[in-house]
Amino acid sequence: MFNLVLFGPPGSGKGTQSNSIIDKYKLIHISTGDILRSEVNNETPLGLEAKKYMDQGMLVPDEVVIGMISSKLDENPQVNGFIFDGFPRTVAQAEALDNLLDFKNNPINLVLSLQVSEEELKKRLISRGEVSGRSDDTEAVIVNRIKEYHAKTAPVAEYYKTTEKLIEVKGEGEVDQVFGLISAQIDSLIEA
Ligand code: AP5
Ligand code: MG
Repeated sequence: MFNLVLFGPPGSGKGTQSNSIIDKYKLIHISTGDILRSEVNNETPLGLEAKKYMDQGMLVPDEVVIGMISSKLDENPQVNGFIFDGFPRTVAQAEALDNLLDFKNNPINLVLSLQVSEEELKKRLISRGEVSGRSDDTEAVIVNRIKEYHAKTAPVAEYYKTTEKLIEVKGEGEVDQVFGLISAQIDSLIEA
């Protein structure tokens, strides 16, 4: 089993690269952002609660997302592995994920951290906001999402550095070029 965390700030390309990774390596994609947006669209109680945070660019409480991940792992017992996109977002989430995976004897193998300048992140998200209809792609909310990233999510990179699983990858350039860098890192572990 191969478990990958795709880590990076809002707009760094986690979703875009996940699409190519799942095609090539047949991993199950778990994006907490996608799951939450589907709950919001379906107006479930969880979605209605989460929307209050998401519309402001704030993180949804840990216990909500940790519960979601736990059920996703249980739904997929026989798989090649998972790609975690947008999770873990806090050190508490990272610790909870380690506990869940340890219990299944399938730890995280690799954490790839996409490096993109703040100027480029804002440019990407603002231009996506003009077409996507994602309610958090407005300038004011983008600024909050990036602030929240620095305050609560950047420490997750430090957490993974202590386990020597984190590798930084340049996330700027053509999408295929970035995917080439990501693939090289995954291949070097799979073939090792
Ligand atoms: P989430 O959905 O996870 O959003 P995000 O992390 O803010 O980032 P995005 O999904 O916007 O960016 P991305 O890195 O996937 O980049 P993408 O590939 O789309 O979270 C949304 C909200 O949900 C949070 O604010 C929070 O409220 C809540 N939430 C989610 N998970 C949570 C958790 N674990 N805990 C608590 N709360 C949680 O690319 C962006 C744009 O750039 C696209 O238009 C794309 O086409 C373009 N692009 C991609 N790559 C390139 C490239 N190489 N060159 C040029 N353009 C590119
Ligand atoms: Mg995304």
